[in-house]
Amino acid sequence: MDDHMTVSALADIIRHQAEILEDGRLRHTYPDHYGDKSLTTARSRLLEACDKLNHLVTGPEEYMMGLAQGHRLQAALQYVCHFRLASHIPADGTPISYDELAEKASVEASRCVRILRLLMTHHIFREPGTRLIAHNRNSRVLLDSDAGAAIEWYTNEAFRSSTFLAEASELWPSSEQMNQTALNLAYDTSLPAFRFLSQSLEPSRADRYSRAMAGLSKRRQLTVEHLVTGYDWKSLPNDTTMVDVGGGNGYCSKAIADANPGLKFVVQDLKKTFGAVHTDLKGRLRFMEYDFFTPQPVVADVYLLRRVLHYHPNKYVVKILQAQVSAMKKPGARIIIMDDIAIRSGMITTLEERKTRTLDISMMSLYNSAERDLGDWKALFHTVDPKLKLVDVRKPPGSSLSIMELWMDQQSQSRGQNDGSLPYAFTKRNSVS
Ligand SMILES: C[S@@+](CC[C@H](N)C(=O)[O-])C[C@H]1O[C@@H](n2cnc3c(N)ncnc32)[C@H](O)[C@@H]1O
Repeated sequence: MDDHMTVSALADIIRHQAEILEDGRLRHTYPDHYGDKSLTTARSRLLEACDKLNHLVTGPEEYMMGLAQGHRLQAALQYVCHFRLASHIPADGTPISYDELAEKASVEASRCVRILRLLMTHHIFREPGTRLIAHNRNSRVLLDSDAGAAIEWYTNEAFRSSTFLAEASELWPSSEQMNQTALNLAYDTSLPAFRFLSQSLEPSRADRYSRAMAGLSKRRQLTVEHLVTGYDWKSLPNDTTMVDVGGGNGYCSKAIADANPGLKFVVQDLKKTFGAVHTDLKGRLRFMEYDFFTPQPVVADVYLLRRVLHYHPNKYVVKILQAQVSAMKKPGARIIIMDDIAIRSGMITTLEERKTRTLDISMMSLYNSAERDLGDWKALFHTVDPKLKLVDVRKPPGSSLSIMELWMDQQSQSRGQNDGSLPYAFTKRNSVS
């Protein structure tokens, strides 16, 4: 989209793309249905045009002052989460009075009303009558235990840490240490973020983080469905064991296991982060305490690292992968990484790029990590072990994460020579150069 478009040209785009979406709605419930490429494109163009129109019409001073006050909204959401306001309002949309809500939540009524009214200007909750409050589709997200936990995490630990970004950058300008971050200043701790969360004296913090990760994966672009359908799990022989390294409460393994009855799973994580998903998988899924900086104790067929490496500075990524490589003793053993691959500016829309850049700052504030493009990933794999080969990269449609598959070179070649059964990725593309 041209950067110098006029307001009316942008309005034309909006009308045109809106018509495509409205026609599409006859066939689909949601306009952001990622299975339909034309609707996904129309939605993305519409949002991009709306964003450009907004900034153009708002004007520089108002635009900048508005952005600079984003923390008020974060604080209001933090308040709502803290006092569990959403849970006291009927989920079915029936309104209750502000006074009743204040009493149920044990909060001071007038302050509560002021906070909710700010949120309403951002389309969160609605006021269907005088001094009445009800849920709308946005506020209902808070009712989902996992998605609600994600919003709590963003408006608590993540929000508070962000406010120390400049100070941390002054103290540790180019640190690759995981305990020299804005989070360390915000919480006055010398522990890296994950240790801080898992060893917190507030046990709910670890549980909330675990649920938050599951909650983030409920969004269309991060749904675990992309992992289930984005890899050919059915091509793996029965009794294949997959280790889910840094698997949190095990929801990813459970989703793959439900669709693939022949596979077995070991979910590894720092003990206290487990909220262990309920499973009825009859011994096919077990949990194990494991620190991924130490040699991998399980000799398995597949090592999955989903949204794990992303959170670590380069030197730690190398350590984590080397610890897994040391256990790749079985023929055909492979590492599957599902993570972000940054795309260069100009190749995606501004709004998509904004998400990547936002994540990049989050990585900086919490973990001293960064977003990586494919070249960065390949360089890291080479440092881990020159024999470690990236044999396939794919991005499931609608997913913001890509799946990278890695084999040890000699091992894959000898397996191929012995029985001709190269991994399916090799047969398609051979090594990704
Ligand atoms: C961002 S979460 C990803 C969880 C899950 N794989 C997913 O896709 O949602 C990263 C996970 O790595 C775990 N973790 C962090 N440091 C670890 C360590 N040293 N050893 C094992 N797990 C660790 C965290 O507890 C957390 O569950």
